[in-house]
Amino acid sequence: MKVVRTIGELQALLAEQRAAGHSIGLVPTMGAFHDGHLALMRAARQANACVVVSLFVNPTQFGPNEDLERYPRDEERDVELAVGADVNLLFIPPLEEMYPPGFDTTVDPGSLATVLEGAVRPGHFRGVATICTRLFSLVQPERAYFGRKDAQQVAVLKQVVRDLGLGLEIVACPTVRDADGLALSSRNAYLAESERGAALALPRSLEAGLHVHGGGGSADDVIAATRQLLDAESRLTVDYVAVADLDGVTLAAAVRVGGTRLIDNVLLEETGG
Ligand code: PAJ
Repeated sequence: MKVVRTIGELQALLAEQRAAGHSIGLVPTMGAFHDGHLALMRAARQANACVVVSLFVNPTQFGPNEDLERYPRDEERDVELAVGADVNLLFIPPLEEMYPPGFDTTVDPGSLATVLEGAVRPGHFRGVATICTRLFSLVQPERAYFGRKDAQQVAVLKQVVRDLGLGLEIVACPTVRDADGLALSSRNAYLAESERGAALALPRSLEAGLHVHGGGGSADDVIAATRQLLDAESRLTVDYVAVADLDGVTLAAAVRVGGTRLIDNVLLEETGG
């Protein structure tokens, strides 16, 4: 595996890969790797001759009062894990490489970016869409891999790729969970032991909602069942519970436990595409 830090170096190595006829799979990340990230790398490994992972904590997708400064960073460990996942190129650009002086273009996704996460975190998806479009254009992968853990991110990026005709496939991979059901997230590291117990209400409530859906319940019934379990956990504050078409009909929720914000979702119905 090669660790590369500049676009020049990255593109020289990618040109060699392309000349050899190798397909390229890209896994964009912000680091602090866990099994969710590694599952994306494995999926990319299976379908592409060359796997590129980017590691960049993208400031433009964090709001002014969010956790950019304390976001977990452990480059040494991430390099080891990427080697273990048989990644070919690990791209770790400094800030100036992704946002050079004079950088002044944004990709502003439409209405899908204004609801749910977009309503609570204004500008978040603009930051995500801008950095991902830049990565797609620099790497020009055949496929890019994202987790369904962030279902709205998948839906927004599919929209951007479709609208701008970027010509790559967005591959959505299932959410990886801990044995207790909590979806893996770099932000779980913020949770104290007692807060983790409270956080488990999130996946449990979504399972309850899924169960109601399976029994023929309406979207309102599903949301009510989910909310009931979340409201019963006094250490949680609910940001939203919703059923929306996020690359498939999805039950999505966001909660706060102490100072930590957690999101999770379950797919109710695949819509294909
Ligand atoms: P990050 O939070 O590091 O996540 C990188 C990728 O891993 C995303 O596609 C995310 O959905 C996926 N992922 C995270 N937890 C997962 C889990 N438990 N199971 C499966 N996949 C999981 O998402 C971002 O970074 C950024 O917004 C990024 C796309 C890199 C743009 O900056």
